[in-house]
Amino acid sequence: MPGGRGDPVREAARLMSTRRNVVALTGAGISVESGIPSFRGAQGMWAKYDPMEYATLHAFMLSPRKVWEMLSEMVSVCGGAMPNAAHKGLAALEETGVVRAVITQNVDGLHQAAGSRRVIEYHGNLDELICVYCWKRYPTRERWTPGTVPLCDCGEILKPNVVLFGEPIPWLAQEQAEEEARTCGVLVVIGTSAQVSPACDIPRIAKESGAAVVEINPEETSLSGNVTDIHLRGSASEVIGKMVRLFQDPTTPPPRG
Ligand code: OAD
Repeated sequence: MPGGRGDPVREAARLMSTRRNVVALTGAGISVESGIPSFRGAQGMWAKYDPMEYATLHAFMLSPRKVWEMLSEMVSVCGGAMPNAAHKGLAALEETGVVRAVITQNVDGLHQAAGSRRVIEYHGNLDELICVYCWKRYPTRERWTPGTVPLCDCGEILKPNVVLFGEPIPWLAQEQAEEEARTCGVLVVIGTSAQVSPACDIPRIAKESGAAVVEINPEETSLSGNVTDIHLRGSASEVIGKMVRLFQDPTTPPPRG
């Protein structure tokens, strides 16, 4: 069994085992090891594209072709990405009954590709395009090719069915995420800077409802030392990989039911 006495990953695994009803909240950091850049920081998308110019509904309505410069890059990068060991590890933890659900801010579909079944997509998914004029929807692969802007049958430029700044969270996703937060025993927050509202409220809702909060992130966030009970400092694949191995060990029995 990896990890020694006082090992925080083992401590988190024990907490998950005893409290049960484990829910994960993921952000861009979990997909960094799949080659998808995160948003903040020197290598992030927002260092290259000012979100006020490229990621608001207002910007899209004003100049959709310009916003598609950024969207094309996201669709191409995400479309070519494969799930990494962290996505696969979370799916394995769901399969063995340890993790109940994944709430993700990511729009890359990599949790589903890894085999996670209960995934709540808080910010939508790049796989679908929507017309903001007539509300018709299309699978992205049917309407978009690199270097083009996708058009609706009504002639307007389509938008990926993801949440841009200034747009509401899809109501069902928000309802389900808040319900998961209110009723979980442990919320494992992975790879998010927790700077974007209302997603950043999810850990606080869980905490106020009595859950323990475990954070997996190499960096400090606004949650660390505040909402977070155990901060596991490392990459998502490294820490989740270690967790999976701990749960495979018969001396750390996974929760059932
Ligand atoms: P951010 O880019 O804000 O934060 C990514 C976090 O991942 C940071 O805290 C990093 O320290 C951490 N990180 C980096 N590499 C990691 C790794 N290998 N393992 C674990 N953690 C790692 O991304 P989000 O918090 O997801 O929304 O951003 C939230 C929202 O802001 C996005 O959904 C998007 C963006 O604007 C919208 O566009 C509406």
